[in-house]
Amino acid sequence: MKTIGVLTSGGDSPGMNAAIRAVVRNAIAKGCRVIGVKRGYDGLIHGQLEEMNLSSVADIIHRGGTILRTARSEEFRTEEGRKKALNVVKVFGIGGMVVIGGDGSFRGGQELSKLGVPTIGVPGTIDNDLAYTDYTIGFDTAVNTVVEAISRIRDTSTSHGRANIIEVMGRHCGDIALHAGLAGGAESIIIPEVGLDIDQVCRKLIKGKNRGKLHSIILLAEGVGGAIELGATIEEKTGIETRATILGHTQRGGSPTAFDRVLASKMGAKAVDLLLEGKQSLVVGVKGNEIISVDIEKALSIEKQLDKETYQLADILSM
Ligand code: F6P
Repeated sequence: MKTIGVLTSGGDSPGMNAAIRAVVRNAIAKGCRVIGVKRGYDGLIHGQLEEMNLSSVADIIHRGGTILRTARSEEFRTEEGRKKALNVVKVFGIGGMVVIGGDGSFRGGQELSKLGVPTIGVPGTIDNDLAYTDYTIGFDTAVNTVVEAISRIRDTSTSHGRANIIEVMGRHCGDIALHAGLAGGAESIIIPEVGLDIDQVCRKLIKGKNRGKLHSIILLAEGVGGAIELGATIEEKTGIETRATILGHTQRGGSPTAFDRVLASKMGAKAVDLLLEGKQSLVVGVKGNEIISVDIEKALSIEKQLDKETYQLADILSM
């Protein structure tokens, strides 16, 4: 294989640039050409491609976002769109593709593989919602961003003796809320995997207040519901003044942590190695300290389970 394509797709995540850098530099080191595809599958369909060299990826390892930009492509979901994409792949002589993104991007990668374009997926999403891997690229940075926000909100929460609901991203996965909640010492963590027990949350708040606690932080995963509505309900039920903060896209930006940079570098390089070994339809992951690869179909079929131990620990420690 002489020419490898690389694209980022779906929601961006901090560390995607580090992964692109690893793909480009490892491929060039092993004698390949690299073509960068702009704006994900949409850019592939519309021929937004350009050759990358060592300098294309200089000075990006610390930058958030993705230099290749990203998109969620409706057109690639159609047979017509995929046909156009395949034509572009052929015209540019791309022999294998690295797709950096989440589950939707992996499904696109599987379609590319079916069309005869060997494709390897690299998990780039802040959500950490892919069950086959311990961590996805960007999750650690997002968690750290939330932890910093918790500290800031706690300061003002204490001054006013208020409760604060902090709503975080993650779609249907509660990992960001769980990890940031544990790291930030939140009083309650509400995640889709467990659901909301409003009376339990209120009991904890009232008990805390009676013990002289001046602040209460409640971490709410977006998959459960909205912070503003929950805040109003809590204030009504407890009489404790409550404010809501929705962290939104602050969680998707910013310089990636060292953890995400290392993970992205290892995973991006591994994806290239797999293509050069003649592999396809695989996604790269991490289990313990080991970089692994799993069949795309299998990886997408594994259902994410709640990390009960961590959830119970957070609950005990937030008494
Ligand atoms: O999948 C990443 C994610 O940030 C989710 O946590 C969130 O629900 C969604 O993307 C937001 O999407 P958009 O950037 O399109 O608003």
